[in-house]
Amino acid sequence: MQYVIKGGIPLVGDVVIGGAKNAALGILAAAIMADEDVTVENLPDVRDINVLLEAIEEIGASVYRLDEHTVRINGSGIHTIRVNGDFIKRIRASYYLLGALLGKYRKAEVSLPGGCNIGSRPIDQHLKGFRSLGARTEIEHGMVVAEAAFLHGGHIYLDVVSVGATINIMLAAALAEGSTILENAAKEPHVVDVANMLNSMGANIKGAGTDVIRIKGVPKLHGTVYSIIPDQIEAGTFMFAAAVTKGDVTVKNVIPRHLEAISAKLMEMGCEVVEFDDAVRVVCKSRLRYTNVKTLPYPGFPTDMQPQISVALSLAEGTSMVTESIFENRFKYVDELARMGAQIKVEGNVAVINGVGRLMGADVSAPDLRAGAALVLAGLAADGHTVVDETKYILRGYERFDEKLRSLGACIFQAEDEKDIQRLKLEAV
Ligand code: UD1
Repeated sequence: MQYVIKGGIPLVGDVVIGGAKNAALGILAAAIMADEDVTVENLPDVRDINVLLEAIEEIGASVYRLDEHTVRINGSGIHTIRVNGDFIKRIRASYYLLGALLGKYRKAEVSLPGGCNIGSRPIDQHLKGFRSLGARTEIEHGMVVAEAAFLHGGHIYLDVVSVGATINIMLAAALAEGSTILENAAKEPHVVDVANMLNSMGANIKGAGTDVIRIKGVPKLHGTVYSIIPDQIEAGTFMFAAAVTKGDVTVKNVIPRHLEAISAKLMEMGCEVVEFDDAVRVVCKSRLRYTNVKTLPYPGFPTDMQPQISVALSLAEGTSMVTESIFENRFKYVDELARMGAQIKVEGNVAVINGVGRLMGADVSAPDLRAGAALVLAGLAADGHTVVDETKYILRGYERFDEKLRSLGACIFQAEDEKDIQRLKLEAV
């Protein structure tokens, strides 16, 4: 499937942001650790989430959708600790089932994770954490196996700040015997959200959101009703959509504190950013200005917003430098953007961007989730028509992306084939 976009229309209006995908993935894994009903609200209806729900159902947990954004899970029926569906390899967060099952059943076997190809993405820190809780870990025939006769507390120092390892270790340690100290932990809002959710199930986790997380293992977790925080990256993407189209967009249902790094960069680039209690308005009236940015763990500028800011800087006045310090393979969209007239030179983990003022519509292909969304932003800003191919990546993490953009005045439609593309191009003049 493709998006056909007619660019050049300033986006104006309000858009409501959904629940955080990356928090939801950890929270759904946590949900299977109880043998009682766990109701998760504000769940984004996106592909990665639906794949994880499929995996949870396949191992025997009951999954009941109360509505589009609410699910009730009960882990009492789990009959296997082996998660091996072909589909699960497609998502990164399959590895959260390792921590959840290891904590609950002392054994887990999960296919090696897939996800976006943005770098080598090792899981050594996850495994190091499980080992210090007393587990044996092995990679056998494409499966990660973790097993512990006695799962106990541990003292873990993460060699790299990893969101995934922090959440996975919290999951397993929540049901270990004794206390765990996790140092150099990730501080992302979704780490805090998973900790809050586990605590609402009876876990004893303190310090989430700081460098040191302390977990006192409890014998069992109970049911809960929990609502997921808003998605920082979806919100940031719409904020940049306002910036690149010289629009005026209010993103609603957000936690402005989680968006501070994004807001700060938009202001440096000349946008007006107004914060409300649970909304942020971005107004852009003139040409954007250059800036330099380096992706860093939270509260730094998120790597998941790097392609979007690079698109904005392609249009800005002056020369900008974007340094990617989290994933080594995150500039794959640059060649696509060059087809639209962007001037970007990548050397190692730095992109030097010469702002060109205007982009031209072209046929481009999404290389991964966030870069795909960034190419859509480029298309919205560009003169003429842009066709973004491989939208399946975008659907992994954005719910009704085109529909939400259309509600802000954008001209973006889904096409099934070449005939559709030609028809839409004609209709969208
Ligand atoms: C999560 C997010 C992803 C986001 C990333 C960084 C999910 C499903 N995905 O990915 O959208 O871009 O955080 O905010 O939540 N590393 C190791 N060894 C490990 C684990 C990680 O070396 O065991 C390295 C990675 O290669 C990377 C860095 O640590 O360079 C950060 O990765 P991590 O925070 O773990 O990212 P993910 O959890 O995979």
